[in-house]
Amino acid sequence: MKQYPKISSSILSANFASLGKEIADITQAGADSIHIDVMDGHFVPNITFGPQIIKAIRPYSSLPFDVHLMINDVDTSLEMFVTAGADRLIVHPEAEPHIHRILQRIKKFGKKAGIALNPATSPHVIEYLLGEIDYVLIMTVNPGFGGQNFIYQQLEKIKVVRSIVGTQPIEIAVDGGVTLENSQQIIEAGASTLVAGTAIFNNLGYENNIRRLRGEIA
Ligand code: DX5
Ligand code: ZN
Repeated sequence: MKQYPKISSSILSANFASLGKEIADITQAGADSIHIDVMDGHFVPNITFGPQIIKAIRPYSSLPFDVHLMINDVDTSLEMFVTAGADRLIVHPEAEPHIHRILQRIKKFGKKAGIALNPATSPHVIEYLLGEIDYVLIMTVNPGFGGQNFIYQQLEKIKVVRSIVGTQPIEIAVDGGVTLENSQQIIEAGASTLVAGTAIFNNLGYENNIRRLRGEIA
């Protein structure tokens, strides 16, 4: 049977004026998880959601909430995001000098732990963290904004991460500039999850967009 990738819907491109409804709609449309980009205006230039927004939208979907933390000082605010309803917490090694300890803290909370790799970050960063992570998020744009162009040199990194991870139960997700034009290449390089904002929210056919990204329909 054909193995389809998971689709994680990035709400950065949703209509913020009706966020609860947008989340209910993409859940209904068949997304596999909700990707929430938390930005603090320091680690990245943009500012987005905090724990109170996550708590407010939590009742609108039973899907896992993947909280992508693009913030400095993860250690201080980690527990707030857990309490708000995060299922998976994804951290950048550049944001936290003791990344191994942070990943262990996430697991102690009973949550899934992910590591995010910026375009310039070596894939080999994960080699001594494999026992602590459930998820690798390969950034194929510089984080901060939706709607940017996919950086094609990162296809090579997806392959390297796949060769390091092998068949271990660690999801390999790709985030940034995912479109119908490049989704198959990303999957062939070894990704198991596509994170998409613009490609899902850019028109009203959410179910169609999700199924096309997955490769289920043409
Ligand atoms: C970028 C974010 C992405 C973003 C992707 O900093 O991490 O999750 O929402 O958006 P698109 O799919 O529009 O590139
Ligand atoms: Zn993201």
